Amino acid sequence: MIYFDNSATSFYKPEQVKNTLNQSINKLTANPGRSGHKLSQRIAEEIFETREAVKRFFHAPNYQVLFTKNCTESLNFAIFGLLSEGDHVVSTIYEHNSVLRPLEYLKRKNVDVTIIDAEMEDIPNVIETNIKSNTKLVITTSVSNVTGEVCDIKRIGKICKDHNILYLVDGAQASGHLDINLTDLNIDMYAFSGHKGLLSITGVGGLVIRENIKLKPLLYGGTGTDSANLLQPTNIPDGLEAGTIPTIPILTLKAGIDFLSKNFKNLQKIEENLTKYLYNSLKNLKFLKIYSKETSKNIALINIKDMDSSLVANILDEKFNICVRAGLHCAPLIHKHLGTLESGAVRISIDFNNTRQEINKLVSALKKISDS
Ligand code: ALA
Repeated sequence: MIYFDNSATSFYKPEQVKNTLNQSINKLTANPGRSGHKLSQRIAEEIFETREAVKRFFHAPNYQVLFTKNCTESLNFAIFGLLSEGDHVVSTIYEHNSVLRPLEYLKRKNVDVTIIDAEMEDIPNVIETNIKSNTKLVITTSVSNVTGEVCDIKRIGKICKDHNILYLVDGAQASGHLDINLTDLNIDMYAFSGHKGLLSITGVGGLVIRENIKLKPLLYGGTGTDSANLLQPTNIPDGLEAGTIPTIPILTLKAGIDFLSKNFKNLQKIEENLTKYLYNSLKNLKFLKIYSKETSKNIALINIKDMDSSLVANILDEKFNICVRAGLHCAPLIHKHLGTLESGAVRISIDFNNTRQEINKLVSALKKISDS
């Protein structure tokens, strides 16, 4: 089997992630911050260490880390936690439905929403021209999950800082692939998922939040603290993390981050070279339409002539044992922009664990599908 669907979830998990999973399911199944016995305290310490590891990994000493179940939940926490009727928010067509759908809901609740349609390189300028007196928040992705194009989050961070506006970044596709320095980039809130580039098992995501930011709760329930109070506490993380958190996925996240921290530059180089190899292998195939760019991160987005993307993905799976993702990738507006709303497109998403031989096999399979 050849796995080219790493933007959906990474296939490769390091040995230390697997060992952590094994050890923690056997020895650490207590509830942190609740019962107070030794095992509960031990897991609470491990969770604390994971928050610290996340802060170090994203260069965010003056931030707090909220654990969630995935990046979608993290983005929901930030968006619903901040925006109220009358606020203005600016975002882009490159966003995933985990941003677009909350914003569409809030639009109907009288939040003023601007979605920018522009080429990726023009996004920072267009954001700046759309800022109004009531603009509270700018939201962009770091890397498009459809085209792999990299957003200039550094420039947008500077624009937001200059205009005193909060900046939320969807880091689903950048985390573990790019070195993200939240402090230098002026990012106020950064949402990530564990199971993609950070190599954890599924079930954990997070929101890294600048220390002075307050959010309204999204979940209401037990926090193990201030229990006589029927109002939801809002301190971060405990107040907002109502209910039992996904302890074992969180511990595997720490193992994934530890693995990446030791090998980061090397793994980035491997991914960069492989992405170039993928692009160069596809660019001269006359029967392909390529929508991604040479500079796209870890992704090639293609279609074969006018074939429906789902059909191509099914043949790749059934006949050639190659996993890709077709369709709209939960990001309809960028597909509309590319003209692929009807056909969808075939996304090939790699990571450092893939090889040139696998890419060669993909090219040969695409040729066969085109010829048949
Ligand atoms: N958002 C994930 C993807 O792009 C699931 O495939």
